[in-house]
Parts: sequence; C-alpha cells; structure tokens
Amino acid sequence: MGARIGVVGSNMVDLVTYIDRMPAAGETLAAPSFAIGHGGKGANQAVAAAKLGADVMLVSRVGDDLFGGGTLRNFQELGIDTTHVRAIPGAQSGVAPIFVEPSGENRILIVKGANEHLLPADVDAAAADLARCGLILLQLEIPLETVYHTIAWAAGRGIPVLLNPAPAVPELDVERILGATFLAPNQTELTILTGLPAETRAQAEAAARSLVARGVKQVIVTLGGDGALLVTAEGPAQHVAAVSVKPVDTSGAGDAFLGAFAQHYVAHGDTLAAMRWGARYAADSITRPGTQKAFATAAEFAAFRQTLGEA
Ligand code: RIB
Repeated sequence: MGARIGVVGSNMVDLVTYIDRMPAAGETLAAPSFAIGHGGKGANQAVAAAKLGADVMLVSRVGDDLFGGGTLRNFQELGIDTTHVRAIPGAQSGVAPIFVEPSGENRILIVKGANEHLLPADVDAAAADLARCGLILLQLEIPLETVYHTIAWAAGRGIPVLLNPAPAVPELDVERILGATFLAPNQTELTILTGLPAETRAQAEAAARSLVARGVKQVIVTLGGDGALLVTAEGPAQHVAAVSVKPVDTSGAGDAFLGAFAQHYVAHGDTLAAMRWGARYAADSITRPGTQKAFATAAEFAAFRQTLGEA
C-alpha cells in the first residue's frame, strides 16, 4: 500500500461568525466576533493529514478572485502537492458562512463556486499521480459525477477510497459508490442517506447495517461526543470511544477525524486504530476556534495525547 493520500475535493473560504443566538427572521442582531479561515471539507481533510506529516496530493479547483491565490498558497505552505489545483477563469472561490454558538455547535452554508467545476476529466488528468496513492478521500462538495467517476477509476486499480458523504444529498446513488472501501457519514448524513433515525448508537448501527445490506463494504459512523462506529458485514459493530474535552468550536471536527484517520491508515493499515487516532485528533481540534487553523501539527497532537496519558 502506497503511503501517499490523494484528496479529490473541495476548498472553501470559511466566514465564521461566533454568535450568542441565531437572529429571527427580520431581526438584526450584534454578534461577538468574526474570523476568516481556510476551509472546505476536501481541503480540511487534506490539511489535517498533511499537518500530521502525511504525503498529500490534492485535486481541486479555486476561483480566480481575491481568495483563490491565498487558498493555493495555504496548501503550498503546508506541503500539499498542488500540481492538480487550478483556478477557473471567471469563477468565484467556494465560500462557507458558518455560525458558531457558545456551546461550540455550528451551522454551515456552502456556496460551491469553483468547486462545481471539478469534473471527471480533471480526475483523468491527475490519474498518473492518483495511481501512486494508498488511499483516496472524497466528499460531496464537488459534482456527484466526479465522485462516481473517481470511485470507479480507483476500484478498477485496487486503490482504497474513503467517501465522506458530506454534505449529504438524498440523490446520492448508493449503487455507484459500492466500489468505495469506506463510507464515513455522521449521524445526520446517515439519516439523510437511509431515511432511518441515527440519533443513538443502536439506531446508527441499524442504519449503517442497512447500507451494508445494500453492498457498502465498511461504514464508519462518526458520532460526535460518542466517538465512532465501524459496521461491516462481518461480526458485531465495533465502537471507538470519544475523548471528553470542552468544545469551543466543533466546525471541521469530522474533517479532522477523517484526515487523521487517513494519515494513520496509510501508515499502518489498521482501521480501528486509525479510528481511535482520528477521534483523538478531532477532540483536540474542537478545543480551538476555526477549522484548518484548529488542526494540530504532529508535535502539538503528541502533546495533546500526553495530556491523556497516551504518548
Ligand atoms: O466540515 C467543515 C467545512 O464544511 C467547513 O470548513 C466549510 O468550508 C464546509 O465545507
């Protein structure tokens, strides 16, 4: 298994407003603070893995506006291979207005912009480099056809794929994602995909099993404060506990989990150990505001694990 990680996915500029509460319709409300940061589910997962020391390549599209150059520079400064990150003439960069409540809970809107222009042909253009990857990460902030095409291409070459079906879209064709090695939804996404409740661990397992019954190989359900669950056709579900921390901002926690999971998985090939690693990395990330800027480096993560008595 190659140790390189490929991410075929989105990037956004996060426009984060920290609020006391959401305003009602027609109401104007002052909010305590605001921050701009680099985000997008694909980019976040790439950055988490890169910050932990993984060799990461990204296939993505930015706008030719104010944000595009900064986004590209950010990837380069983090050591991510940007050979296949291009600007789309005339397109705006993806942006994500995010609202974070005092509890750390977040609400996110996305305007995909240039991410809509990442097409199957762009994956073909990156194929020689993607073929060297030990794992490819996908999310749903790019066109669905590009997601299906990447899965089919990777499955034909025996390259493992992890699909994070986020944000969940009911029109996702499960038949066309069966080539993925892992499907990794959160509870909300699992409910949208299956039509089944997934609020409790037992419900999440039942909903994940309904996907396994349809041919999905391995479902990793991220359960927020309850950790994560691995459901496959073999044996009982396996649960990985969360680490308890005081949340400041939960935005990007799922991406932190998956980026760290990917970095550990390509290095060791142990799914449950990679889930435990991801759960710890995500817990650490929610103790700081923001998405990518809240993600720890390998040294910072080692220090966090030391506080848990683990490093
Ligand atoms: O998962 C968090 C991310 O979702 C944010 O960074 C935002 O850009 C949206 O893509």
